[in-house]
Amino acid sequence: MILKVARLGHPVLRRIPKPVPPALIARPEFQRFVDDLVETMHEYDGVGIAAPQVHVPLQVAAIEAGANPRYPKAPRIPLTIVVNPRLRPAATRRIEDWEGCLSLPDLRGRVPRWAAVVVEGLDRRGRPLRLTSRGFFARVLQHEWDHLQGRVYVDRMRGLASLTHLAEYARFWAKE
Ligand code: NI
Repeated sequence: MILKVARLGHPVLRRIPKPVPPALIARPEFQRFVDDLVETMHEYDGVGIAAPQVHVPLQVAAIEAGANPRYPKAPRIPLTIVVNPRLRPAATRRIEDWEGCLSLPDLRGRVPRWAAVVVEGLDRRGRPLRLTSRGFFARVLQHEWDHLQGRVYVDRMRGLASLTHLAEYARFWAKE
């Protein structure tokens, strides 16, 4: 089922969602929700989506990048579900690059992110998950983890001067 996406200004995006109780993970309603989250991400051509973005205050996010019309040059990321993640930098350097968000439609902005991160948490079956990632995957993980802390990417921008509508991004900046 495709879920409705909350846009910037909806308070659900600013609240810190609750950890998923371990006993809930195996239940069919949680598994169905994860399927719906993935279906919603696919429907809107996202490379990631976090539960608060579909009005569900739980610490779960989905990430996947393949042949995506919104991010045609993005490196491939296999479908990854993170439950109750903790994230820490695994680099001393941050890299600035463009990001968008399904909750801020038709906008892009430049966001500094750690070049590499380690994420620990659970997978969709409740098994321990540890991901070491760099580059674009690390960027998407930091973006989704921010959603699970009540933050959105514009909070992380060095300034708003690079905030760009998608059509102008395609016209002036996509060739970078
Ligand atoms: Ni987002």
